[in-house]
Formats: sequence, structure tokens, C-alpha cells
Amino acid sequence: MEERVDIIMELEKQLVIAIDGPAGAGKSTVAKLVAKRLGYIYIDTGAMYRALTLKALEEGIDLESEADLAELAQNTEIKFIKAGAEDRVVIDGLDKTEEIRANKVSNNVSIVAKVAAVRKELVRIQRGLAQAGGVVMDGRDIGTVVLPEAALKIFLNATVEERTKRRYQDLQQKGENVDFEQLKEEIIRRDELDRNRDVAPLKKADDAIEIDTTALEIEEVVNRILEFCKS
Ligand code: DC
Repeated sequence: MEERVDIIMELEKQLVIAIDGPAGAGKSTVAKLVAKRLGYIYIDTGAMYRALTLKALEEGIDLESEADLAELAQNTEIKFIKAGAEDRVVIDGLDKTEEIRANKVSNNVSIVAKVAAVRKELVRIQRGLAQAGGVVMDGRDIGTVVLPEAALKIFLNATVEERTKRRYQDLQQKGENVDFEQLKEEIIRRDELDRNRDVAPLKKADDAIEIDTTALEIEEVVNRILEFCKS
């Protein structure tokens, strides 16, 4: 097999790069590769909202109780731990990397993510992680709320059909069988909740560059972002 050598691109400054967009637009795949090529740290903020949602489901916490969810956010330790090339998500000392991606978590995460006190706590942590620079952070509100001063803001988008296809393939690979049309409805519903919530809704920042990834290869998107970094 051909061996691929990743050449780390040298930039003069340790930039902060914000990547936002709806579910399945390719944010995490692209952000991870951009971070790798720059020798930066990748921070998946969606994983943090997923972590709290998983814990709430496991502990039977009432998702309608904002006070209980706020308390949960205060009392949960979420860590990203490097294991070789992989980032593992550790919640209160337990590795839950796979569990946070379950469809049940996807279908409830927007309820948890709309709570102001939950967002306040997670945004505080996210800003701390980005403080030293050299970071690629992806989410929904990174360019608008978490890191409005980011040197580069990207908003990734794709048609709902394409985004569903990607999620469908991901879930199938993990052995989770879902109906395509139902998954599409769930993605539309989640987007709607994320776009229309009162606090930090999913929105392109005015100064973000929008890239439609529907017909693009991953490598093409990554290269475009790296070009923007250079300029
Ligand atoms: O990127 P993802 O699909 O793993 O994100 C899961 C959910 O978390 C998403 O539906 C909305 C929420 N989220 C958010 O509200 N703000 C962020 N910065 C990241 C994710």
C-alpha cells in the first residue's frame, strides 16, 4: 500500500479557525484534516453537547427541566484524549466515544443545546481551549458567539439529500440500521431546532466564507480552506 506522508503546513501565526454548518455538512471530517495539516488541535464542540445529552439520557434526567440540565453541565467532566491518531471522548472518566454518536443522542441533542445555562458553561470551556491559538473548532455558533475574533471563519453547507446520505452511510458502517427517509426528517427537524433557538442559533457569521460541499471531494474542501489560511 502506498504510504502517505502528511506534510505539516507552516504558518507564521497560530491561527484560530472556526468551522460552522448544519448536521452532515462535513464539518468534523474537514476540520480534523485541516487541523492535522496545520499541526493544530481539533475541537469538536458538538461532541460536548452530545456528551451531556448521553449522560442525561443514561441518568434519566428530564430533558424539559432546564435547571436539571444546567446542573448536569456544571457537574460533568468532558475530556478529549488522544489515542494514537484518534480523539477519544471521555465523560466523567469513562470512554463514550462511540455512544455519543448513537441516533438516540442525535435526536435529543438539540433539546439540551438550546438551554442557555448549558451553552454558557460549554462556551466558557471552549474559549479556554482556544486561548493559545493553533486551533480548529467546529460547531454551530463558533464564528458567531464562541470565537467571533477567529482569523478564519468557514460555513460549510450541502443539500439535505447529500447530508442525509453521509449520515446514513456513517450509521450503516457502525451497524446502526435506520430508514433513509426517517433519517432525513430527523436531520431537517434538528436543523430547524438549531436554526430557530433563541440562544446562539446556527447561522453563518457575516464575515464567514460559505462553501457548498455537495459536489466536492473532502480533499478539495480541505485544500480550499488551507489556501484561505495562507492568504
Ligand atoms: O456537530 P454535531 O452534529 O455532532 O452536533 C450535535 C448537536 O449539538 C447539534 O445538533 C447542535 C448542537 N451544537 C450546538 O448547538 N452548538 C455547537 N457549537 C455544536 C453543536
